[in-house]
Amino acid sequence: MTSVLAAGGASAVAPVWAQLIDLFVAICFVLALKGLSGPKTARNGNLLGAFGAVVAVVTLFFAYPGMKNLPLIIGAIIVGVVIAFPIARKVKMTSMPQLVALFNGVGGGAAALVSIVEYLQAGESESKGILAATVFTVIVGSVSFTGSILTFLKLQEAITTRPIVIPGGQYITSLVAIGTIVAGVALVINPATWLLVVLIVLSALLGLLLVLPVGGADVPIIISLLNAFTGLSVAASGYVLGNVLLIVAGTLVGASGTLLTREMAKAMGRPLTNTMFGAFTATAVSASAGGGEDRPVKSAGPEDVAIMLGYASKVIIVPGYGLAVAQAQHQIRELVDLLNEKGIEVDYAIHPVAGRMPGHMNVLLAEANVPYEQLKEMDEINPEFSSTDVVMVVGANDVVNPAAKSDPTAPIYGMPILDVADAAQVVFLKRSMRPGFAGIENELLFDPKTTLLFGDAKDSLTKVVSAVKAM
Ligand code: TAP
Repeated sequence: MTSVLAAGGASAVAPVWAQLIDLFVAICFVLALKGLSGPKTARNGNLLGAFGAVVAVVTLFFAYPGMKNLPLIIGAIIVGVVIAFPIARKVKMTSMPQLVALFNGVGGGAAALVSIVEYLQAGESESKGILAATVFTVIVGSVSFTGSILTFLKLQEAITTRPIVIPGGQYITSLVAIGTIVAGVALVINPATWLLVVLIVLSALLGLLLVLPVGGADVPIIISLLNAFTGLSVAASGYVLGNVLLIVAGTLVGASGTLLTREMAKAMGRPLTNTMFGAFTATAVSASAGGGEDRPVKSAGPEDVAIMLGYASKVIIVPGYGLAVAQAQHQIRELVDLLNEKGIEVDYAIHPVAGRMPGHMNVLLAEANVPYEQLKEMDEINPEFSSTDVVMVVGANDVVNPAAKSDPTAPIYGMPILDVADAAQVVFLKRSMRPGFAGIENELLFDPKTTLLFGDAKDSLTKVVSAVKAM
């Protein structure tokens, strides 16, 4: 089996000591994933994964001492570190999903490039098995690259976050998908560089066509799916290169990404096919989109909200994306502590897709040392709303929007929501009447039992805290 490393003049088979280190690194990756499954162990899990990756890279230099193009390789590593490190350090938590999308796209693109270089070096002399793996890596890696870049642009709001539907989109996408498969099969049967070029172009186009019609609340599911794609393409490139560690790491990413995608689709209450292809068939514009902003709403000041809370016996806080934007986690904790001191029962209702990434609210509230037992998952807290005096929705919108239950044309239709409308009173803390991520209006804002406290959540909460203290 040839490999990029072999082409560089060194043996393709790593020495036994290096293979043992690879085994150690693979164990690090598995334990890292285990650590990442809980907020308390996530930081150590992340560090362990990063440590394993560094060990794996450094080992390569010693395992293949005759490696060619060493200055280029080291130069590329330095450029990568210099660009990525400050971005990753400075990124706001609310911008994490687009960073993940960007890095994920680069990973898929890199896997595709490695296979392309491998093909160009060994090309027609490769076995059919290696050619099939090369084709797979090029297709999946290119789809992941262009799809992720488009997702990044959507999340960055550089382009609209709403679904972009091209007339006849499903036919164009089907044709491009069939063309990609035909080009891939032809390349395996009869290798030719022009076929490789056609394959790259079609796969890249397919990535764009698949992501264009996905919008609003479905974008995070697509990030997770593309992440799984990148894992699979990395695993296939490991097969092409004869690198076991790449196969292990890629499979881990592919498997965990697939599981996460399934869980997120479940949390959104819809099959994955609906997320990916739903917009193709959508003809009606959601009845809940736009309009209505001129309708009257009931707003109040922080003192009024303090009185509502102070006289309640049971309060539920619903945190959402706006809490993260305002970085108001410490203020919310202070308020809850004050209410607890007054003997008021307070819980936090955590929706699985609140915020902009899985576990966003848990991480945010953990930062303010909110006791874990106060955080209640959706299924556990939903029956509690009907016996609650006041629900305070802090920077959340889609996750409490009743359109998910009542409006079949709404993009979030079918997503389970927090049943805050069952409570006696609802207070929304937000800055304006603007909608949430899915871009649709929330009828609950106009409900007679709803009161709005307009303003940045941190300012509003600081004022409510002062007013509660003064009571
Ligand atoms: P959203 O529906 O996006 O609503 C956020 C609300 O916060 C908005 O109504 C906004 O209103 C308000 N807001 C923003 N900044 C604020 C600030 N500084 N102070 C006070 N309020 C502020 O959030 P959600 O209910 O958490 O729902 C999450 C949405 O994101 C879902 O559609 C979900 O599918 C999607 N999503 C989820 C993930 C994951 S995995 N969690 C990833 C990406 C996307 P104003 O502008 O009027 O203030």
